[in-house]
Amino acid sequence: SQIRSHYSFVVREANYTRLCSTKSILTVNGNFPGPTIKVHRGETIFVNVYNKGNYNITLHWHGVKQPRNPWTDGPAYITQCPIQPGRRFRQKLIFSTEEGTIWWHAHSDWSRATIHGAIYVYPTKNTPYPFPKAHAEIPIIFSEWWKSDINEVFTQFIESGGGPNISDALTINGQPGDLYPCSMTETFEFHVEQGRTYLLRVVNAAMNLILFFSVSKHNLTVVGADGMLTKPLTREYICISPGQTMDVLLHANQEPDHYYLAARAYSSGVGVAFDNTTTTARVKYSGNYTPPSSPSLPNLPDFNDTPAVLDFITSLRGLPERYPRQVPTNITTQIVTTISVNTLPCPNGRTCQGPNGTIFAASMNNISFDTPNIDILKAYYYHINGVFKPGFPRFPPFIFNFTGDFLPITLNIPKQGTRVNVLNYGATVEIVFQGTNVIAGIDHPMHLHGFSFHVVGYGLGNFNQSKDPKNFNLVDPPYLNTVIVPVNGWAAVRFVATNPGVWFMHCHLERHQVWGMETVFIVKNGKASNETLPPPPPDMPLC
Ligand code: C2O
Ligand code: CU
Repeated sequence: SQIRSHYSFVVREANYTRLCSTKSILTVNGNFPGPTIKVHRGETIFVNVYNKGNYNITLHWHGVKQPRNPWTDGPAYITQCPIQPGRRFRQKLIFSTEEGTIWWHAHSDWSRATIHGAIYVYPTKNTPYPFPKAHAEIPIIFSEWWKSDINEVFTQFIESGGGPNISDALTINGQPGDLYPCSMTETFEFHVEQGRTYLLRVVNAAMNLILFFSVSKHNLTVVGADGMLTKPLTREYICISPGQTMDVLLHANQEPDHYYLAARAYSSGVGVAFDNTTTTARVKYSGNYTPPSSPSLPNLPDFNDTPAVLDFITSLRGLPERYPRQVPTNITTQIVTTISVNTLPCPNGRTCQGPNGTIFAASMNNISFDTPNIDILKAYYYHINGVFKPGFPRFPPFIFNFTGDFLPITLNIPKQGTRVNVLNYGATVEIVFQGTNVIAGIDHPMHLHGFSFHVVGYGLGNFNQSKDPKNFNLVDPPYLNTVIVPVNGWAAVRFVATNPGVWFMHCHLERHQVWGMETVFIVKNGKASNETLPPPPPDMPLC
């Protein structure tokens, strides 16, 4: 019914009032959060993107694997030049095995703060999801709101070399909730009937915050994550990183009353400032009862409860019987990469607000990624030299106790460059992300475009090549596109490189992405005609 194959997304400014003040924000079609896309598994749709704002912009379909179609994937200067004001780009979205909830967002500067929305992927036509049928589906989109203009926040962050100004509110579907000033009348609420089940379509669109959320007095059952279904996992609280999405069943099986769905930030980082106010939405049962003057808040883990994060992420299991792709066991390409927050010397003539007057940087294998001026996909396809270099270092150039308290100074000074990983078609790839304690350890949600990967293992401390692989889950690992690498720990993922093209990988904490915690995978063509990268669409934006 609401399934359409063509959408029109007009990027334009609109006024929104939050926390007692009004500002102009970038929106799609005037909406914040933006419109929801609804499709069935395996369908292809088109989105006509019109830029009627004043800034260059790109849109990315996060979790849509886009087989053989990196051209309209969206990350600026990776697969396309930005859409300039007044221009249009028709983007093709090719869905393959995705099911459940994914999302779309801007992928240039910090515009994704307000330019984002959900994508609901239903099973193939006339088939149900393999979990109990929900009476209704409810969007739960978390994000962050700044009272000042987001471009000013971004510019000041870039120019200072320090951390970004913290946001003024966490929001649910654009609303801060009852615990923030001037927000009560607009708080998001939904109505439930006792005995029924509701499907929460959860997106963490926050810029820099991993979140805990729960509903007071209710358990939540996760049935999907990152657009791939999972074994049901029932918990009191859920942990979700920026970039991640989840399908969560809420069973309305408590006394008719008003309850809060609430979320707050998790932070393992020393000295990382954040708003620790809880954002809320109201869950209201129908029926005849006297509602409380104020609903009760759920118990959420403390802001620094790393064991609570680990317990949740290591409990999630995939649903392998639903998907044709098995976990690869014969690894042809192993990539071990450190992921670090670093510093670089303050450029001459500037005052810098990073630690001891430096500027912050971030790196993978000690390379801080330099974004080029024309996109890597075009440079690769047309053989334009000088845009990127292959030869992303295969192993950390030095072996240290990366998660210890005393790290050699050499680890702190990254090189800068546009280094990419070139993979043969069909390569079976394992990536081990090794967190480090350079500057300060923190969790990193690492995201890969163009694929879902099997998350085969997590651990604390240094990855141990002779011991840890023995405990990998090769049977039913979750199939994600964004993995939380625990603070001072590691995570291992596997995928098969059968999607030719150029695919971005980066930390989904926006500040780390800007600092250079990124790299690119180029997957070469295979031999068969259906294993090659087709030519670009005619309306690719020009730089
Ligand atoms: Cu959510 Cu590079 O993307
Ligand atoms: Cu990070």
